[in-house]
Amino acid sequence: MTIIKIKIDKIISSGDGLGFLDGKAHFVPQALPNEIVEVQVIENKKGFNRCKLLNIIKASEFRTEPICKYYNICGGCNMQHTIYNNQITIKKDIIQDIFRRNGKIELEDFEFVESKDINYRNRIQLHRGNSGIGFKRRQSNEVVEINNCPLLVEKLNHFILNKSYPNENKITLFSNGINHFIGGKDSEAHAKILNKDIYFNPGGFFQSNISILPKLIDLVNRYVVGPRVMDLYCGVGLFSAFLPESIQSIVAVELDSRVKPFIDRNTNGRNITFFPMSLEEYILRGEHEKSIIDTIIVDPPRKGLSDEVRNFLKHISCKRVIYISCDPTTMARDIKDLNEHGYKLIEFKCLDFYPNTNHIESFGVLDFE
Ligand SMILES: C[S@@+](CC[C@H](N)C(=O)[O-])C[C@H]1O[C@@H](n2cnc3c(N)ncnc32)[C@H](O)[C@@H]1O
Repeated sequence: MTIIKIKIDKIISSGDGLGFLDGKAHFVPQALPNEIVEVQVIENKKGFNRCKLLNIIKASEFRTEPICKYYNICGGCNMQHTIYNNQITIKKDIIQDIFRRNGKIELEDFEFVESKDINYRNRIQLHRGNSGIGFKRRQSNEVVEINNCPLLVEKLNHFILNKSYPNENKITLFSNGINHFIGGKDSEAHAKILNKDIYFNPGGFFQSNISILPKLIDLVNRYVVGPRVMDLYCGVGLFSAFLPESIQSIVAVELDSRVKPFIDRNTNGRNITFFPMSLEEYILRGEHEKSIIDTIIVDPPRKGLSDEVRNFLKHISCKRVIYISCDPTTMARDIKDLNEHGYKLIEFKCLDFYPNTNHIESFGVLDFE
């Protein structure tokens, strides 16, 4: 059991602090830049050591008391030990680092759209423990049972306290702040976004922080050029539902075919053609060859764009790509590739959809030159 003293240089995308000793990287959860900490090495790998924080010898001025009593054991949050402004500074540094290394792009200072930092989370997945429900412990299948989470909208905390949950091992829940909906039990959920009720399956994908969503929709609408748009990885047609009237035709593609009735309802009155299939299949079928497109919106899952989708973007004639991402590492990789094939990143911003955690939502605009 090796115990060492180390200075933390920065925070990496996992949220862990990174310090070096004899040239070897040491990862320390819950440590902050410029802190001197005492740690125990718990995993000794060839290129790096994983450590457990034992003692803070010199604390950062930005350190604060976590707001949650489960913070040290629950795997949900990993940034509560620093004040919100510093979380934003840290996330900006992480993004610039990732884009430098993975994207070969030097990002100038950019806007980071903030969110309220507690009671913001509308969608969660809970797991059944021995006597209650809760979240998974970090890097473990063990359930940390909870009776409250400060990140959740109050309605979800009431649900947890009332113990009226279904007898399932995994429970997906959404609350719009007034009602709650249970995945697998309720056939539809709805949330008021801007001036519209948006409908979706509570067991399928929907955004988890609806308080910041209008700002993302605003950004999409500010940068979209028309009149012909593709909404790829479209979910229930959230972006399509709010596109300006000047957009005359929309092609939407989504793998989860169950979204069809929701897209119809959410985009009622729009000229939209929906393809319920993977983008890779859509491309393989050559469906896109019939389309002339001005803007393509992509909002992929964490793994980012596949080779097929990147090749498609390189070869289709389109003025602009709007790239929304929940993983900056894959986004930087994809943007590097698109940059090398005629696209130029003309705008970049982040939105803090997940305060108190390391997760970052990014927004990029690429023009074909
Ligand atoms: C991050 S979500 C975005 C959804 C939507 N844009 C929204 O904001 O509500 C990603 C979506 O991509 C879909 N998806 C994942 N892989 C896909 C693929 N290969 N082709 C098409 N859709 C895919 C998922 O089912 C999910 O709905």
